[in-house]
Amino acid sequence: MSLEAPLRPVVLTVGDLLLRPPRVEESAAVLELGIDPDVRMWNPRCQITDEASAIKDCLAGADWSDGSQATFSIVHKHGGRYAGNIALHGIDRENAQAKVGYRIARWTRGQGVATAAVHCVADWALRELGLNRIVLTHGVENTASCRVAQKAGFGLEGTLRMAKRFGDGRLHDEHLHALIA
Ligand SMILES: CC(C)(COP(=O)(O)OP(=O)(O)OC[C@H]1O[C@@H](n2cnc3c(N)ncnc32)[C@H](O)[C@@H]1OP(=O)(O)O)[C@@H](O)C(=O)NCCC(=O)NCCS
Repeated sequence: MSLEAPLRPVVLTVGDLLLRPPRVEESAAVLELGIDPDVRMWNPRCQITDEASAIKDCLAGADWSDGSQATFSIVHKHGGRYAGNIALHGIDRENAQAKVGYRIARWTRGQGVATAAVHCVADWALRELGLNRIVLTHGVENTASCRVAQKAGFGLEGTLRMAKRFGDGRLHDEHLHALIA
């Protein structure tokens, strides 16, 4: 795919997981994850507070038409249970880079889901979109996310001091990780 091409939604698979554009039918699970305390704290981009905002989030995530983002629901291949959300966002074709963000349902944390999903989406973005650099940032205190970054091969490039206001309303330092093609 050329760097100028619009994004067409795709379905990716990794292990027992299916990554596909969000669906409105899963909005109850999307809401449950959106109001999870750890998500409220560490995913400030996630603005899901009620059913209407969960539906809106599904619709926005499924619309890849402007080429700036590709959002996936992560579901189990067998049974289809909702396991989380991963998004490639801020897609910058000029500089061949994008950011990745994710959140995983509490029931399936600690089983390698985030690591597998990050691997899978980053690999797709580098190979199929022709990107060269994928950026992953997380609050320094979010050690689980730091492990995900390390395990997915995103090198630590430094610490961004007081870079983002997280769910507690305070500015926190962030780690900047990146994967290069
Ligand atoms: C961070 C998050 C995405 C991790 O998802 P996950 O599917 O559980 O991740 P994985 O299973 O692939 O890996 C988790 C790693 O973090 C480690 N970990 C989990 N909780 C931890 C904690 N409190 N402190 C330190 N490490 C922790 C696990 O042991 C594992 O590392 P290991 O394989 O070396 O043992 C998930 O906890 C989550 O959604 N949290 C809330 C939202 C969030 O933080 N999103 C990311 C914002 S940048």
